[in-house]
Amino acid sequence: MRTETEQTLLLDHVDMRIVTGETEHSVPDRNSIVQLDPDHPGFRDGEYRARRNRIAEIALEYQPGDSIPDAPYTTEEHEVWRTIWKALDEAHEEHACAEYLECLKRLNLPKDRIPQLREVSARVEALSGFRLEPVAGLVEPRVFLESLANNVFLSTQYIRHHSTPLYTPEPDVAHEIIGHAVTLASPRLAELNRLVGQIVKRTTEAEALERLARVYWFTIEFGVLREDGKVKAYGTGLLSSAGELEAMHRANLRPLDLEAASHQDFDPTDFQPILFCPDSFDAMHQTLKDYLLCWK
Ligand SMILES: [Fe+2]
Repeated sequence: MRTETEQTLLLDHVDMRIVTGETEHSVPDRNSIVQLDPDHPGFRDGEYRARRNRIAEIALEYQPGDSIPDAPYTTEEHEVWRTIWKALDEAHEEHACAEYLECLKRLNLPKDRIPQLREVSARVEALSGFRLEPVAGLVEPRVFLESLANNVFLSTQYIRHHSTPLYTPEPDVAHEIIGHAVTLASPRLAELNRLVGQIVKRTTEAEALERLARVYWFTIEFGVLREDGKVKAYGTGLLSSAGELEAMHRANLRPLDLEAASHQDFDPTDFQPILFCPDSFDAMHQTLKDYLLCWK
């Protein structure tokens, strides 16, 4: 049986957007709002739900090219951000790959308050050309992935409920910024994201899309690599959770065989028992780039 701490960290990486099938939580376009589940930590908090709706309205009214309006975060929510960083600062030093740490330095994100998407987007765009656009919640995997082809990352703007600072059952602004936005500031990781988007745009078969989603999961979301003999993370789901960064060392590491990864099932609600680990960042970049360029 799991301890309470493990439970707290267990679902922090859940990101349904990469699941290719229809789910009851997915919605048909980027402007639809997802209802909170009865077991969501914020379900019984009327104030939180009202704020989530206000933040969702920002996404509903957003037109690409507009400046992203600021989200009305509370003092408690800024505290959640600080708590997340308290857990992550040391974990990053120990477990993050050099490319990520370099991007973090270049972005110079505030750790004492939740940065607004507007400011993060401007900093990322200056470094790699990628920008963030707000969405109200989970969007169709195809909509999410296709936007990557246009250098756009569709990002949620709300933050997880303050009662569970190290757990979120859905992607939130902490996962989007600390995981995705930071890695998208790397021109080489941005390029890989863009290539995935380009393939999705020309892929019609569900089976092919499913295989690509698995490749995305085992690289962009849960990628690890070797650096100076140590296993380091470059995947967003790992880098946005101190619990995941610890747990990755217990995974069964396999060589980076992307054909194998494309057929490897995964459970997004648990720590990953299998990870694919190339010998360096360069090897990861080249292998994944070649694989995506040859995608049929
Ligand atoms: Fe993600």
